[in-house]
Amino acid sequence: MLTHEKIETSNTLMIVLTLLVVSVGGLLEIVPLFFQKSTTTPVNELVKPYDALRLAGRDIYIREGCYNCHSQMIRPFRAETERYGHYSVAGEYVYDHPFQWGSKRTGPDLHRVGGRYSDQWHKIHLLNPRDVVPESNMPAYSWLDRPLNDPNIGAKMSALRIVGVPYTDQEIAEAPKALEGKTELDAVVAYLQGLGQALKQSR
Ligand code: HEC
Repeated sequence: MLTHEKIETSNTLMIVLTLLVVSVGGLLEIVPLFFQKSTTTPVNELVKPYDALRLAGRDIYIREGCYNCHSQMIRPFRAETERYGHYSVAGEYVYDHPFQWGSKRTGPDLHRVGGRYSDQWHKIHLLNPRDVVPESNMPAYSWLDRPLNDPNIGAKMSALRIVGVPYTDQEIAEAPKALEGKTELDAVVAYLQGLGQALKQSR
C-alpha cells in the first residue's frame, strides 16, 4: 500500500502525483470554458467584429504598448462599476485575438471608454496628453498624425476568420479602401470609441 509517508519522502513520487492533481484540476476548470455559451458567443448583438479601421487602430494600440498602462477589464466591484460602468463579461471579448485585458493600471481602465470623450478630445490627448489633462504622465504619441499604412489588413482579417471572426469575403475585399486617406490617429480613435459600447446602457 502507498502510505502518505512514502509519498512525502520521495521527491519523484511527490512531483508526479502533484502534476497529476494539478493537470486534472486544470482540465476540469479550463475545458468547459471552450464549450460554454457565455464565453464563446457575443453577449448581445452590439458586439460585432472590428471593422477594418478599428482593427488597424487596435494593432496600433498593441504596437505602441498602450496595454502596459491600461487594462480593459472592469472587475465586478462597486469601486470599479461606479467609476467605469458595467463590469466586463466574457461575451464582450469573443472577437478579441489576442484580448487586451492587461494587468497594469498606470492609467485608467479603457474597457468602456468608447463615447466618453469626443474624437477631437482623443486626438489632442494622444498627440499630447498634457494639453487636456495637465497633470497627466501618459507619454505623447505625437507621430500618430501620419498616414495609415496597413497593406496587410485583408490578410489579417482572413487570418482572424480562421479563428472564428465571421468576416465576409466582401468585407475583406473592401478593407484596403476603408483605410484610404486615414491617419493612424483616426484608426486608434475609432478603436477607442468602439470600446465597451455593448453593455454601456445597462450601467
Ligand atoms: C506610461 C503609461 C501610459 C501609456 C503607455 C499610455 N497611457 Fe493612456 N493614460 C495614462 C494615464 C496616467 C492616464 C490618465 C491621465 C490622462 O487622462 O492623460 C491615461 C489616460 C488615457 C485615456 C483617457 C481615459 C479616461 O477614461 O479618462 C485614454 C483614452 C488613453 N489613456 C489612451 C491611451 C492609448 C491609446 C495609449 C497608447 C497609444 C496609451 N493611453 C498609453 C497612462 C498611459
